[in-house]
Amino acid sequence: MSKVPVLVTGGAGYIGSHAVLALRDAGWSVAVVDDLSTGNRYVVPEGVPFYEGRVDDRALIQRILAEQGIGAIMHFAGSIVVPESVEKPLDYYRNNTVASHSLISSAVDAGVKHFVFSSTAAVYGEPERVPVDESVPKLPINPYGASKLMTERMLEDSAAAYPMNYAALRYFNVSGADPDGRSGQVGKGSTHLIKVAVEAAVGKRDHIDVFGTDYPTEDGSCVRDYIHVSDLTAAHVKALERLIEAPDENLVLNLGYGRGLSVLEVLDALDRLLPQPIRREMKGRRAGDPPLLISSNRALMETLDWTPRFADIDTILGHALDWERKLLTRNWA
Ligand code: UFG
Repeated sequence: MSKVPVLVTGGAGYIGSHAVLALRDAGWSVAVVDDLSTGNRYVVPEGVPFYEGRVDDRALIQRILAEQGIGAIMHFAGSIVVPESVEKPLDYYRNNTVASHSLISSAVDAGVKHFVFSSTAAVYGEPERVPVDESVPKLPINPYGASKLMTERMLEDSAAAYPMNYAALRYFNVSGADPDGRSGQVGKGSTHLIKVAVEAAVGKRDHIDVFGTDYPTEDGSCVRDYIHVSDLTAAHVKALERLIEAPDENLVLNLGYGRGLSVLEVLDALDRLLPQPIRREMKGRRAGDPPLLISSNRALMETLDWTPRFADIDTILGHALDWERKLLTRNWA
């Protein structure tokens, strides 16, 4: 398998920046495009060609593809906040679906042969069975999931029509941070459980709300499949290798560990890492939260030569905590 230069869109964001690290650690050459609307320049390693701009800027993308001799794209840029997508659906269709249309068109025009797409478990909506495998009907319940699903469909149709193959990778709950402290989740006002919890742990918040303790689960709180961001991005690199080795194949894979942890289990695990426990406030259910969301990762394990390295919840929380402390000492966010 011969490596090609890779363009990472959204490479200054949480998952995109870890993809840059994973690619570079595995010996790939990388360029980043990011409009810095939510991303941060400081998580992009020194020496990585960086272009500030949007993926729907056709002239910019054409220039980058030519200048860097790009052979593959990993596409992370986009909007990701579910409730916001309900309030501003057209923003989500523009930033996710329409912008992806532009990027895929640029890729096809320039003869880019491989495309890895950052999709989401939100394409399944409230899945009819758990663990969720890739054949579960895709019935998104919000514009975020719908905007991502439309992009998957554009890729499927484009791969059938043009000399290109693609991977659509559907994430479950991405969490944790780079084990070497080079990147992590940044940004005020995050609503993700582990990010909120570690912010409380370092004193940025005085408590954490637990949204719902009356679900039909073992302890009454919601269960999710938390996957470490470095395992997740390592799977992207494996997916790209596979696309290059098998140019007639496409990949549609869930990325999760196939393991569920409840909100209370996560908070208990974090408390064990701290000198004193985080104050919890038991609240009512948050709108739109399914009780149980666990990935089947059978297809992932059968298709890619990928082994999770950081699945232990203590490891995920420890890395998230280290990063949060670093943000605090650097006064970054
Ligand atoms: N939770 C709390 N307190 C908090 C934050 C979250 O109790 O302060 C709970 C939520 O109610 C939920 C669980 O923790 O039960 C996980 O919530 P997150 O917000 O961390 O994650 P979600 O499962 O809601 O969202 C994830 C991804 C989305 C994706 C969605 C559906 O982050 O991008 O799954 O697939 F769209």
